Amino acid sequence: MPKIEDGSTVRITEGKVVLDVAPTGGYKGPGVRGGVFYNPAMVNNRDLSIILVNTLLEGGRLPGRSVSILDGLCGSGIRALRFARELTNSGEVTIRGIDIDEGSIRTACEGCAANGVNVDFLREELNGHLVRNRYSYVDVDPFGSPVPFIRNAISSLLNGGVLAVTATDTAALTGSIPRVARRRYDTALHRTDFQHELSCRALLGNLARTAASLERSVSPLFFYTSDHFVRGYVKLGRGAGRTDGSLKNVGYILLDGNGYVEVIHRLEEIRSVDGGRKVIGPIWVGPLEDREMVTDMLGATKGERFTYMETHKHIRSMLETALSENGLPPGGYDTNAVASILRMSPPRISSLMGALKAKGFGVSRSRFSPILVKTDASWKVFKRTFIDIVEGE
Ligand SMILES: C[S@@+](CC[C@H](N)C(=O)[O-])C[C@H]1O[C@@H](n2cnc3c(N)ncnc32)[C@H](O)[C@@H]1O
Repeated sequence: MPKIEDGSTVRITEGKVVLDVAPTGGYKGPGVRGGVFYNPAMVNNRDLSIILVNTLLEGGRLPGRSVSILDGLCGSGIRALRFARELTNSGEVTIRGIDIDEGSIRTACEGCAANGVNVDFLREELNGHLVRNRYSYVDVDPFGSPVPFIRNAISSLLNGGVLAVTATDTAALTGSIPRVARRRYDTALHRTDFQHELSCRALLGNLARTAASLERSVSPLFFYTSDHFVRGYVKLGRGAGRTDGSLKNVGYILLDGNGYVEVIHRLEEIRSVDGGRKVIGPIWVGPLEDREMVTDMLGATKGERFTYMETHKHIRSMLETALSENGLPPGGYDTNAVASILRMSPPRISSLMGALKAKGFGVSRSRFSPILVKTDASWKVFKRTFIDIVEGE
């Protein structure tokens, strides 16, 4: 992306869309508040949303007599334009984009003409719009935290609808600034060796609790992180029984100094626990993905269909890892941190994983970090295996 002067226009190509954007402040990074926003670093966020929504559409998994999609904070309109241009059968779907900024809506409307697509772009305030409208899919991609929009976004979704949320306040969600997490997400977080996974669990925990207060359940379809954002997709359900069921996945984890995690479901259980461990939560302690959904998305990335995407390979490898993580408990061992606790060099991760597997434990790499090992083995077993592998290498 070339550096450009204030007010000048740059032509960007992303996916199958070409768009002329004049980002505020020249293109030094993402546009500033109040200007036309376009951030090329979010391309993986948008690529994956196209694969996921396409999978939902092809599987008939979105509700409504005719499917309606809202790009809630659309900025330049790039995501909604890409939905219109790149989704299979997008002609049978209503696609709308909302932004409060006049320049953004003008840019987005020009994008419709330039790309020969039909998107209903409106200049409106999102919360007001959500109160008056119903959708099959709502995408909320704000500056910072999505919390101000979550309640209304959930209310606006039809039964079985899907909410997509981006959060860029990663310092709060990873536990780097606990007081902000407490204030914004009503959860107690601490620094951990699996901070990116934790950020997904904190966001999803908050979504589940907000939904529950509206008697709506959430089922995660897929959660992941990138350098500067946390992103998740949940399917909404209705009814007290389903809601209580989804709340069973909201709990706490106890963290000891070695990175070992224990899950508890109610705060009272902590009384029986010895001291020295940190309590994190409430967070989502269940799976961060839906096995069937991830399998279908992975299937979709195997053919030629999405190879034009810049981040196609990265998405594929993330989905593969996510599938192997499914069913394992929260958290994971950072092999560098464990090596430093044990004053040893880290072993080859593949050897360590092979040894744990041979002992009958579940084990996987993590979509969140290349040095993290996820397993259902206890700290005692993990430590013994780690030492044996290092000493045998
Ligand atoms: C991070 S940008 C969106 C980026 C966009 N989704 C993309 O993929 O490029 C956030 C956008 O939200 C808009 N916005 C902020 N508050 C809003 C509100 N209350 N209602 C509608 N739009 C709002 C801003 O004008 C800005 O364009």
